[in-house]
Amino acid sequence: MKKAKKNTVKPLDIATTAIHSGRKQTLERENSLPIFLTSSFAYNSAQQACDVFAGDEDGNLYSRFTNPTVTAFEERIAALEGGQKGIAMASGMAAITSVFLGLLQAGDHMVLSRSVFGSTINIANNLLAKLNIDVTQVTLRDLPSWREAIRPQTKIFFVETPSNPTLELVDLEALCRLAKKHNILVVVDNVFSTPYLQKPLELGADIVVHSATKYLDGQGRVLGGVVVGNEELLLEHIYPILRNAGPTLSPFNAWVLYKGIETLPLRMERHCENAMKVAIFLNRHPKLTGKVNYPGLSSHPQHALAREQMKAYGGLVCVEMESKKRAYDFIDRLQLATITANLGDVKTLVTHPASTTHSKLSEEARNAAGITKGLVRFSIGLESATDICDDLAQALE
Ligand SMILES: Cc1ncc(COP(=O)(O)O)c(C=O)c1O
Repeated sequence: MKKAKKNTVKPLDIATTAIHSGRKQTLERENSLPIFLTSSFAYNSAQQACDVFAGDEDGNLYSRFTNPTVTAFEERIAALEGGQKGIAMASGMAAITSVFLGLLQAGDHMVLSRSVFGSTINIANNLLAKLNIDVTQVTLRDLPSWREAIRPQTKIFFVETPSNPTLELVDLEALCRLAKKHNILVVVDNVFSTPYLQKPLELGADIVVHSATKYLDGQGRVLGGVVVGNEELLLEHIYPILRNAGPTLSPFNAWVLYKGIETLPLRMERHCENAMKVAIFLNRHPKLTGKVNYPGLSSHPQHALAREQMKAYGGLVCVEMESKKRAYDFIDRLQLATITANLGDVKTLVTHPASTTHSKLSEEARNAAGITKGLVRFSIGLESATDICDDLAQALE
């Protein structure tokens, strides 16, 4: 296989990297990545099979371990995040669970933001507890509480910024500085920002995880996940989980994600532009008595940090209605927005987190994370902003 030509003079812009990274061509001279739908790979001799398994000769072995289409996706997302290596997984949760299982062992301790995806909290509270790994949950934006939670056994800080669905932020540089002082690894779930808006590794984080299901695909088609970071760290701690436990991404899904990333910069610009228009529209709407939460609004308590840390403010807008009934009424009257638990689609999506994505948490945990019964989350799509706002307006009437 021939490698794509590399520009060694100056770093490429992210729009170019999204299209040209991870490119390889086979002897067929194709100009679009092929899908290698094969379970295993064949050798010319028993000795060659032995050499490839021993690592003495380069090559793929079995698609649970590596596959050329999956590798192309891994190289592309690693290039975008500025990481040495990417390891693809079957879903975002497979990526997060593999990081926990790979980096933590019995007796270790993790500090976890209270404002993370519901399944991440469930894995921490149930699976990690069973393995005798202790977890302390803290308020994301409250740096002193991260400092106070540190123990000699603390191995990981885990955050989402902005968080799902409360859109809270943390100062990543400050958090990473604190972690470095105590030899703690910082893992960032970069789903809401994507590398287009924020590159946590450049701000000092050690590992980035993604639910590629969201903006990397961008069209609500496939599940996928990825872990990005230092090659040595990933090969030692994460790759053995993939290889032996098998939370492997299918080559077909890898191909969809690889192609999806090509339009990521363009899509993110429009998502952010539309979300800003929607947030301003909702904020000024006389019929909306609830609070609008969007990091791009000057009323957001961490607007200044968002402006500094992110290129733009993302595609998620939340509204805090007075009650579950008001939230449900609002959601049910929408005609353009789809009611679903996903985000990051070209379509505008609406979710009631308390009864869907975070429904398996106790009410106490939900309240601590700020996920009230009135909270409505919008993932603003790429439709005309005027049409999205018209739909919201008719639902509010
Ligand atoms: C922030 C965040 N992280 C992780 C996940 C899990 O990803 P997946 O559904 O691909 O397993 C989600 C899913 O909604 C999410 O929103």
